[in-house]
Amino acid sequence: MTLHTNLINFGRGQPSLSLLPLSAWRTATDHCLAQGDAALLQYGIEEGDAGFRHSLAQFLSRRYVIPVTAAELVVSAGASQALDLVCTRFARRGDTIFVEEPTYFLALEIFRDHGLQVVGIPIDEDGISIEALQHALVHHRPAFLYTVPSFQNPSGTTMTAARREQLMAVSQAHDLLIVADEVYQLLDFGTAPPPPLAAHCHSARVLSLGSFSKICAPGLRLGWIQGAPAPLHTIMQSGVVQSGGGLSSFVSGVMRSCIDLGLADAVLDGLRPVYAERSAVLCRALRELLPAVTFVEPAGGYFVWAQLPTVRSAAEFLPVARAGGVSFHAGVRFSSGGGFAQHIRLSFAHYEAPELEEGVRRLARALTASAA
Ligand SMILES: Cc1ncc(COP(=O)(O)O)c(C=O)c1O
Repeated sequence: MTLHTNLINFGRGQPSLSLLPLSAWRTATDHCLAQGDAALLQYGIEEGDAGFRHSLAQFLSRRYVIPVTAAELVVSAGASQALDLVCTRFARRGDTIFVEEPTYFLALEIFRDHGLQVVGIPIDEDGISIEALQHALVHHRPAFLYTVPSFQNPSGTTMTAARREQLMAVSQAHDLLIVADEVYQLLDFGTAPPPPLAAHCHSARVLSLGSFSKICAPGLRLGWIQGAPAPLHTIMQSGVVQSGGGLSSFVSGVMRSCIDLGLADAVLDGLRPVYAERSAVLCRALRELLPAVTFVEPAGGYFVWAQLPTVRSAAEFLPVARAGGVSFHAGVRFSSGGGFAQHIRLSFAHYEAPELEEGVRRLARALTASAA
């Protein structure tokens, strides 16, 4: 087999460099600095700058198509950091939490950092199984449930509106805090998912985590937590938030300009068709070159979650694939219970069409080699 030096790594859940909005960010930075406000470089308030949160609320009201106010928003340094804060403030070492099965593998690492006991609740094509959730609630009293409701990482699944309603009913009945990681909510390929769980933050116990990582640029380390006053207050009492004078102050100042100048909308509207096209290319190549592989074509987000029927363990197959010049994340990494041995997660965000196609060709060759 040929050894490839230019690995095509479908594991990369990040945009290609060409998609990062360097020029928009430069315009926004110039605009922001031209206002001559030195307070931008000062410690800020815990919830984040009021002007930025006002602009963010307008952006979200427009894009989520639900009313969002600045008072519901606290600035974070991205969804990962927000999740870490949620663990610090709403759970204690040894507590049980619920996650979807499968779930975002790095969230599992954050929960491990906090010494949390993770219980997986299965999902189907409509999102989390309410029956399984209710059954699990008979045996456990979790500190919270972590869900990625739209274009889930890794499965691409979107929770239906009916399932969201049922989840909210369970949350209310059991006083269960729902931590909704909604970083892909705005990244649909043409058909919007149901409104975010953020829409329920006043009627149910919901904290919604948002981020500019997927809709603008991950290096900004800028996101937000949306919720009712009481849980937001709990977040703001964090030592890190108090000591730091809020989070990501300068970047949020520049993002305010980015939103006010219409650049944030333009960047997002530019990304969606690109990802839609990349997803279509990857799925077409999989169908043509690997017809036995099963997957559901995603309607948004970053990922294709595929099952390799001829492979017993995708983790064991990975070194063979890498030797053949292609990589991915094995499904078992997304499981809290060692499941999904035959699954792989392929990201289409990082590569252009020819590399996506070449990656699938290499995958097909490696699968043939491993079967021989
Ligand atoms: C579900 C999910 N949450 C959070 C993150 C990370 O978000 P951030 O860059 O805002 O920390 C990712 C990135 O892949 C993700 O897929």
